[in-house]
Amino acid sequence: MPTALVTGVSRGLGRALARSLAADRWRLVVDARTGPELDAAAAELAAAGADVAPLVGDVADPAHRIQLAAVAGDRLDLLALNASSLGQTPLPALAGYDLDAFRAVLEVNTVASLALLQLALPALRAAGGTVLAVSSDAAVEGYPGWGGYGASKAALDQLARVLAAEEPGLAVYAVDPGDMRTRMQQDAFPGEDIGDRPEPHTVVPVLRALLAARPPSGRYTAGRLLADLADPADAPAVERSGERSAEPADPRVTSAGAGEQR
Ligand SMILES: NC(=O)c1ccc[n+]([C@@H]2O[C@H](COP(=O)([O-])OP(=O)(O)OC[C@H]3O[C@@H](n4cnc5c(N)ncnc54)[C@H](OP(=O)(O)O)[C@@H]3O)[C@@H](O)[C@H]2O)c1
Repeated sequence: MPTALVTGVSRGLGRALARSLAADRWRLVVDARTGPELDAAAAELAAAGADVAPLVGDVADPAHRIQLAAVAGDRLDLLALNASSLGQTPLPALAGYDLDAFRAVLEVNTVASLALLQLALPALRAAGGTVLAVSSDAAVEGYPGWGGYGASKAALDQLARVLAAEEPGLAVYAVDPGDMRTRMQQDAFPGEDIGDRPEPHTVVPVLRALLAARPPSGRYTAGRLLADLADPADAPAVERSGERSAEPADPRVTSAGAGEQR
């Protein structure tokens, strides 16, 4: 039974991904800060077939991270770094960005991701596992107001890129899922109707296809992957997708993304 550690599973993309893994009987170690919401998600995952260990906590808390890695155990097939902070809302321009708020965004999205990865690395190596860092097109675009969050995701992308070069036995992906109809998206666009954004579960088949095909480590966008999956004759499998290192063993070869969404 493969094991996944997925952060931020009480709602949104994390919950949808975990639900899909549960249906395939993965063992799941999951977290979120809000106990009742995590409990509800865990009950759903268990009902779907998973052996699930829900741990309430903040990824920015070192003790919580140690607990996550300990419960995950000695073999870890997937580490999904999904939990994320948008930072201050309404999203402030850099000119007035509170520096403590900036540090807090970096702490959750970047520092905690590296810290959890460090703890999980022995188990990932033992399984020849996959690291999935959930990124954003805000990491590569210059959207006004998105400087703090975007910088944290750009740093996360670079951690993934370097990790891929340092750990050739692992598959390491930074994936921009595109806009999704979630609380984070609503927080980013307060008062706006976000009903036109796709539900997070629509991204999950793309993530699962990526995990199954295990193309070279690199940066991917769900939109490109989805297009490839929809037209396999023209672009067979995910290996034809854009935004990945052409030669993952060579850290000098990189590619930047050009997305349209956050
Ligand atoms: N939605 C979009 O349009 C969009 C676009 C591009 C990228 N993304 C990325 O997609 C990922 C999922 O986002 P989402 O839209 O699904 O967000 P969401 O619906 O707000 O869900 C975020 C999840 O993470 C948990 N979480 C947040 N901060 C946490 C922390 N410090 N420690 C532990 N858990 C934490 C939340 O639960 P608690 O609040 O209870 O902790 C929740 O379960 C994120 O990495 C995000 O940056 C989203």
